[in-house]
Amino acid sequence: MIAKSCFLWLWLAFGVFGVDTDGLESVSVMEGDSVTLHTDVTDIQRNDQILWAFRIKNSDTRIAEIYKQIIDMHESNEIFGDKLQLDDQTGSLTIRNIRIEHSGLYKLTIFRSKGISYKYFSVTVYAHLPIPIIIISDSSQKSSSRKSSSSSKCVLLCSVVNVTHVTLSWYKGNSLLSSISVSDLNSSLSLPLEVEYQENNIYSCVINNPIRNQTKHLNINEVCQPGSERREHSTIILVISLSLLILITAAAVGGIYLHHKKNTRPV
Ligand SMILES: *[C@@H]1O[C@H](CO)[C@@H](O)[C@H](O)[C@H]1NC(C)=O
Repeated sequence: MIAKSCFLWLWLAFGVFGVDTDGLESVSVMEGDSVTLHTDVTDIQRNDQILWAFRIKNSDTRIAEIYKQIIDMHESNEIFGDKLQLDDQTGSLTIRNIRIEHSGLYKLTIFRSKGISYKYFSVTVYAHLPIPIIIISDSSQKSSSRKSSSSSKCVLLCSVVNVTHVTLSWYKGNSLLSSISVSDLNSSLSLPLEVEYQENNIYSCVINNPIRNQTKHLNINEVCQPGSERREHSTIILVISLSLLILITAAAVGGIYLHHKKNTRPV
């Protein structure tokens, strides 16, 4: 019975004023870019009132308003400087050169003769992505299980510092090998990768957020030195040199012997 009358009251209260609170729009934007929060109202009347608020520490601060064709930017200067622009035709709000601290909830209230409507925008501002740095942490590490073979392994380390809400991944060609994510503020991330020297492949370390990515490519042959294979090459060269030396010596000794034999032939 109580529930029923509550429902009736709600229906009366909101039905009459036409409250519409279903709109929550997520907006992702890169730091330094501009973003426009659209009212989606096409037919603003002179008596319509459009009010924008930004939620700071759980309280809504008025940042822009248009009523009877008069624009009032309230105290928005303190938070946004002169970055805010209110379109007097649509009531849409543009934030130019947006900063990380402008991430948060924006509330739009439209008062019209036929009722009030609300719309919320959850704005996430992403920082610029640094280019990942790859270092070769060990270029001649032999795998213990295959000590006798000529295979050597490289350990590559991809890192980024001072990042927020990013994923760091290793790719071999187009296939994803491994990845690691962080959502904390100003974190550092490192992702190691062990590769075999013989592989003639392009590896890349990619950092990305939901909007952009930055890639660092690496040709394994250029950085990962063939530790044991180089030693093997020099052994082969040594063996060939020695054989040549022996052959030349043998030829020389043989030549001298023949020459000597010819000269000492009895007459
Ligand atoms: C990086 O971004 C470009 C577009 O900017 C996209 O084509 C590409 O697939 C992205 N790469 C990765 C690994 O996410």
